[in-house]
Amino acid sequence: MTHPLLDLAPLTAAHFAAIERRVASLLSTEQDVVIMQGEALLPLEGCIRGGARPGSAALNVVTGPYGQTFGNWLRDCGAAVFDLAVPFHTAVTAEQIGQALDEHPEIDFVSLVHAEAATGNTNPVAEIGEVVRAHGALFMLDAVARWAPSRCCPTRGAWTCA
Ligand SMILES: Cc1ncc(COP(=O)(O)O)c(C=O)c1O
Repeated sequence: MTHPLLDLAPLTAAHFAAIERRVASLLSTEQDVVIMQGEALLPLEGCIRGGARPGSAALNVVTGPYGQTFGNWLRDCGAAVFDLAVPFHTAVTAEQIGQALDEHPEIDFVSLVHAEAATGNTNPVAEIGEVVRAHGALFMLDAVARWAPSRCCPTRGAWTCA
């Protein structure tokens, strides 16, 4: 039995590439944009498995349940993981991140959840991003539950930025 909404023709690689180019233009980036079809945990796990390996040193910021999951994936990849956990009713600060990076200069990967769906807390990503960039680590940001007030809608997705 077929259904007009369930039996859609699969998107071609060319169609995906065209969408990725348009998203890159919207984001004003010349870096690669990769669109994946599926629930959000799929690209999040892909970011971690693509970026962490034995020999990696990862700072995993835990401000809610997803940070705990990321730590498990990072360990599964063989990375040395430093968990920076804060009470779930608070946000992490850029100073705390900077201190952890100073204590472990070998860290080359930082994972963080922008906004916690479970608590509504939002971490100060712009300031944290500057600290991570200055350290030279890869920044993996889960922006799934990030709220975009100017458009009154949640943005979904996972991004990495150097
Ligand atoms: C912060 C955060 N990360 C990841 C996810 C996982 O999203 P999905 O259920 O689409 O895999 C959620 C879902 O609410 C979330 O709030």
